[in-house]
Amino acid sequence: MSFNFKNCVFGLIAVLPLAISCGPSLPDDGSGVVGGGATGSDFSRETEYSVNLNISFAGITDASALSPNEVLISWGDAMFIDEPASAAGMRYVIFRGLTRQAPLQDIGQIAITGQGMLTFTDDFSDLPATDDLDNTTWYYSVVAIDSDERISNNVQVEIARTPSAYAPGTMSFDDDVLPMFINIKNPTGITDSSNNVQNCLSCHSSSGAAGGMDLSTLEGILAGVGTPSNPDSFIIPFLGDDSYTEFRARFTAGTLFDQGSALSNHLDYLLTPGGDPAVAGDGLEDLALPIRNWAFEGALPTPDSTPPVFEFADVNNAGLYYGKFIDFDTVRLYIPHASDPESIPINGSLAGQIDYVVYAGTISNTIDWDHPVMIKSLTINEAGQDYVSIDFDWVDEAGQLLSNDLVVVVRPMDAAGRSVDIDVLDYDDNDQSQLDLFRLRMRNMSPQEVEMLITH
Ligand code: HEC
Repeated sequence: MSFNFKNCVFGLIAVLPLAISCGPSLPDDGSGVVGGGATGSDFSRETEYSVNLNISFAGITDASALSPNEVLISWGDAMFIDEPASAAGMRYVIFRGLTRQAPLQDIGQIAITGQGMLTFTDDFSDLPATDDLDNTTWYYSVVAIDSDERISNNVQVEIARTPSAYAPGTMSFDDDVLPMFINIKNPTGITDSSNNVQNCLSCHSSSGAAGGMDLSTLEGILAGVGTPSNPDSFIIPFLGDDSYTEFRARFTAGTLFDQGSALSNHLDYLLTPGGDPAVAGDGLEDLALPIRNWAFEGALPTPDSTPPVFEFADVNNAGLYYGKFIDFDTVRLYIPHASDPESIPINGSLAGQIDYVVYAGTISNTIDWDHPVMIKSLTINEAGQDYVSIDFDWVDEAGQLLSNDLVVVVRPMDAAGRSVDIDVLDYDDNDQSQLDLFRLRMRNMSPQEVEMLITH
């Protein structure tokens, strides 16, 4: 994240990439640590180091997650005032914490770099392996340190948000879907030619696919009553609820006058012998969750565990990744399509393959990473367009415009977590079990933290 809420402590601050203003402090979540208008005698860092006011250093300029457990931080040269050649000999002390104040105190120190280093990759190796590093907002600060162990007096803090740990989806065709078609027996006990109670595969297998529907293989179920190259299946990759609705519709299609219809052939599963509607637990309802969840995750042969990425270097994406107000309080983003080859389904459209998660804050350091402002999945039409367009309202709960300027980050996320049942836009973050579900849902998200500055 590239932003300095700066207080211009001694007016020594060199060129900052995004310096907003000097003087009165900007909102910084109320820590109060970084007060504006500090004078040369104030020293706001709580530290045992003594300060060398002769060091000119602009502090940390960026902290960005590289993965669920790595953060890259960077800064520019520090030097003794009027002695540029001294930059090469400077070392830097890295501080990290879970709150805005923590990296401004000695307890937050994690490393001292070698001379002249301008980046540091935090791999959290100082923390117990059991700690959750992913799905976490980390605060960093850097000071320069000279050969007399005296440090620069600067208090910039940068934030990085690690994505949730990458993990594949949970649904496998062989383990979670296929067994259902074998286990759900005909409720009337009718037997097949080998004298076993009939199951779905008695009629829908590779050797005898009733109505053209082979339920015994992954290829068969995805081709449906069509062909592999021109599929017509009740499974619609990435659309879990629609897939199950489609299944029910096709399972009950036709009329009882037609002996070859799905309805006639499946009647035993739908009505009890007495003619009453079959109740949940008769077996058929057991199909709902596996079908839904497997389709939600893309109906993949093997669940994908690599997150999607934006290919910013691709010429086709040149100029994309920006946003603007299109009216008083609506922001429209123009985003390149993300790519995630591993999660492309065997058949079907890429629509719905990737979710675009939108985070926003009035400034970089106030982005609310636990509460995305928007999650966008693409319709078939949108998937065919050259770029992804996302609209959202930048308003508070009362409908008031939140601010004239905002900072937005979009991260692409694949379908691996989509079967997790939680509304990420509206969950209770005081409830640990919901927080756990949030973490699980947000897996397989790109760490990309490229910011867009949007102004009215
Ligand atoms: C007695 C044989 C029989 C059994 C047992 C049977 N089906 Fe069918 N099923 C059929 C026939 C015949 C059709 C084709 C109807 C048509 O062509 O319109 C069909 C059609 C379907 C379709 C619709 C295919 C499409 O896309 O149009 C689905 C889905 C389906 N069956 C699922 C199942 C499931 C799941 C089970 C087990 C719970 C099952 N069937 C058990 C005979 C059977």
